[in-house]
Amino acid sequence: MCGIIGYIGKKNALSAVIEGLSKLEYRGYDSAGVAYQYNSNFKICKEKGRVIDLKKSLTDSHSNLAIGHTRWATHGEPSQKNAHPHCSFHQRFILVHNGIIENYQKLKFEYLNTYSFISETDTEIIADLIEYFSNTLQVEDAIRKTMSVIEGSYACLILDTLHQDRMYFIKDKSPLLLGKDEEGISFASDITGLLGYATEYMPLDDKTFGVVIQDKIELYDMIGISKEQIFKEISIQEEEINKKTFDHFMLKEIYEQPMMIRNLIRKYFKGEEVILSKKLLHLLRQCDKVNFVACGSSMYASYFAKYYFEKLCGIPCEVFCASELVYSTPLISKRPFFIFFSQSGETADLIAVMKKIKRQNYPVLTITNTMESSMVRLSDYALDICAGKEIAVASTKAYTAMVVTSAILARAVSGNKTNLKNNLKAVSLAMEKVLENKEVCKGIAREIVDAQDLFYIGRGIDYWTSLEASLKLKEIAYIHTEAFSSGELKHGPIALITKNTPVIAIITQEGTNRITRSNLEETASRGAHTYVISSKGLSLPKDDIIIPNVAHYLSALVSTVVVQLIAYYAAVFKQNDIDKPKNLAKSVTVE
Ligand code: M6R
Repeated sequence: MCGIIGYIGKKNALSAVIEGLSKLEYRGYDSAGVAYQYNSNFKICKEKGRVIDLKKSLTDSHSNLAIGHTRWATHGEPSQKNAHPHCSFHQRFILVHNGIIENYQKLKFEYLNTYSFISETDTEIIADLIEYFSNTLQVEDAIRKTMSVIEGSYACLILDTLHQDRMYFIKDKSPLLLGKDEEGISFASDITGLLGYATEYMPLDDKTFGVVIQDKIELYDMIGISKEQIFKEISIQEEEINKKTFDHFMLKEIYEQPMMIRNLIRKYFKGEEVILSKKLLHLLRQCDKVNFVACGSSMYASYFAKYYFEKLCGIPCEVFCASELVYSTPLISKRPFFIFFSQSGETADLIAVMKKIKRQNYPVLTITNTMESSMVRLSDYALDICAGKEIAVASTKAYTAMVVTSAILARAVSGNKTNLKNNLKAVSLAMEKVLENKEVCKGIAREIVDAQDLFYIGRGIDYWTSLEASLKLKEIAYIHTEAFSSGELKHGPIALITKNTPVIAIITQEGTNRITRSNLEETASRGAHTYVISSKGLSLPKDDIIIPNVAHYLSALVSTVVVQLIAYYAAVFKQNDIDKPKNLAKSVTVE
């Protein structure tokens, strides 16, 4: 949530910040702002709305030092007043912040009772506290003192009007990357924000404090001990974050799924063998339970991981919703193993659970699309899902990549010689077939686009796909959609069926084909407008979408492409902002 950018150097800092903010806009997009040095002064420009609106209102075009912010509102409505950067009461300090200060009301009362506040944000008090403490302390100490009293999460870039040649930064729990090239130093909430302005980067640790003075970086821990600076080369290319000829990133990412599968095969298979860390495989083989922890689509992907581990490895598994697990204390087995799924690797709910688990010394693996993320740094092991950068807020290729990666991992743990590699190749071809027939999905999208409510149903594997299908329609088409295990309908939800309610059944499993069809029939008898997505081997001539046959345990990968396309086209018909749906953000860095 929220993206921050900073640049100090020889290139144009205003361009660096505006370009960076456009790349980070997926993190939040209800307002945006910049602060920059101009003629020995700092200027602030902020706007409600998108980065493009901000760009239009900028009166200057050049600076060598600037910070910027794109916001996902947590405290205070989206407005110009609440947009960042925020200034301290006496206008000395200016800052941008990603995160939440949980004790900001208490701190106002404790230290700032003579101050008045312009915004409704929790952020403004950080600038005020630094100013307040700097009445008696050096700026560096005032910032450290502020870090010691604020509770919550933060990544901040701070400007001091009395020392205009420098940029301070602090970080705890929210992500912040430091980048550099020969011409300057930059900051961003994720690596894409650095592209074009840095060739090397360094993810900052929690409780880091530092300052950049012209081209010199100083990095300290909370008590002022200097920290080592270890930079890595940036390997991601600009073209990876380019929409190319597609209308939306979401559509491009849907189309990248067959390639993603081939990449995963190349990455993990050597001949017929899966090559993974021996120690990781050993730990997984000797554990007595695998606990999967995730949120949203990633949690739905982990239902498949549970299925693969139980079927192939015979290890009992449980799926936990991270935001629930963080506040509960389930019974933990004697030799547990924890696997976290996260596209971004920055989800606050997951990081909170992971820290709790790590305190108990349980082994942790993160399966992610962001190998430079906070979660990877906290974990004992990490596996790359190799999906390539996912820009659209609604996850598509990262979700299917998690399903594939978990099948590969389970195959390696089991030592079982299933024909997974060839079966996956068949899946990538089947996905391509679905994409060739996208007009059929578009046709269904057109029919359901005005529905008030819609239901996806299925059993087992098809039920988990229904959960993801329903989330996609909610997220981007704003249609109230629920997923039900088809057997559960008669226990309550069938009461919701009225004339023409669309009910879409997913049928890819032989064992549940007939019974799901009967359940669908029961909704039709009550007026529902029914649709069937079925695998070829189980299909009836009247079915609406027939997908190619693949190994039954991988069929969801193919049916998922269908439901992604239905959601995508429904959103196109509604003329929604598909890549940046309302109220959402790609990286959920607040609990
Ligand atoms: O980055 P993560 O995989 O940890 O994110 C988890 C969820 O926030 C995410 O899957 C969300 O549900 C997506 N918007 C789904 O499209």
